[in-house]
Amino acid sequence: MRAIVLVGGEGTRMRPLTRTIPKPLLPLVDRPFLQRLLEHLGRHGVEHVTLSSPYLEEAFASFLRAWSTRPEIDWVTEAEPLGTGGAVANAARALGETFLVGNGDILTDLDVTGLVGAHRAAGAVATIALTPVQDARPFGLVELDNERRVLAFREKPAELVPGLVNAGTYVLEPEAMRGVVPGRATSIEREVFPALIATHRTVLGYPSDVYWIDVGTPEKYLQATFDVLRGRIEGLSYARPHVDPSAEVEAGAKLGPLVVVGPGARVASGATVEDAVLMEGSSVESGATVRGSILGPWAIVGARARLQGAVLADRSRVATGVTAMEARVEPGETLPS
Ligand code: GTP
Repeated sequence: MRAIVLVGGEGTRMRPLTRTIPKPLLPLVDRPFLQRLLEHLGRHGVEHVTLSSPYLEEAFASFLRAWSTRPEIDWVTEAEPLGTGGAVANAARALGETFLVGNGDILTDLDVTGLVGAHRAAGAVATIALTPVQDARPFGLVELDNERRVLAFREKPAELVPGLVNAGTYVLEPEAMRGVVPGRATSIEREVFPALIATHRTVLGYPSDVYWIDVGTPEKYLQATFDVLRGRIEGLSYARPHVDPSAEVEAGAKLGPLVVVGPGARVASGATVEDAVLMEGSSVESGATVRGSILGPWAIVGARARLQGAVLADRSRVATGVTAMEARVEPGETLPS
């Protein structure tokens, strides 16, 4: 089976990390998110994946070059952002058979084989994986009939209510995309699926309560990482904390269990790091404290600085002795500027 994986969003909620690194290429402990997604699809028999992104296209080049296993991947150029619907239609042009679509920022143990089986058994034109959430406010609810056909997509609710929401993985027949005007930006969730329902096509819902997280914000990114470290995701198992063999943790540095120290990263003596991800080449200087934070590649936290809830982009820096809550530091910049 073939799949299209959407990797072209700007990841605005994940800035400033996503100024230089597309969200699907952010590390999930020791590998890019996208790699784990491809591995998951491969385990469910997907043989070929098409990727496209109008945003930071060149950032994917080394990932594509290094990829040498199953599934095979290829790249379709998307000169202008086409939205989720336009991007799928663009990548699916050559596909004459049932295919899968996955959002590139979802971490899940979804039974993709079961999803495809349910789609075929129902003869649906589209099948949407659904996940139950306690708070549907950020998502919008999906309403099903007794046979799990989608009746309606409800706007984001104003109150805190539980319900089923779109989990960002779909099975589609090529005809599902026929209404999309080539080259026009369209949302698959807000335009394509509602249009199919309006014309009485069978759009099936596939609810499942397996592990699922939409890695859209720094908080969700850390939660996904901690869930992996705690062994909650199928097929991924690590020591806690996870320290890359090429990283350097000096004697007298303190690391909490929910910490990732990436390749070539360094934690100096007297520093404390808890609930944090230190990406490749980043460093925490002596006596600094870093909690609940993400350090992008080659970011530096100066000696005795204290950070809580910080997101430091590529090659950014926090000066010696600075204390900051929820800091966001753009690529190459220094706090305070
Ligand atoms: P935010 O800006 O923080 O909302 O993140 P995002 O840009 O990733 O948007 P969203 O989470 O809604 O996107 C869902 C999925 O679709 C993600 O995997 C995106 O990478 C992908 N995506 C969104 N827009 C486009 C697009 O125009 N083209 C392509 N190829 N993918 C897209």
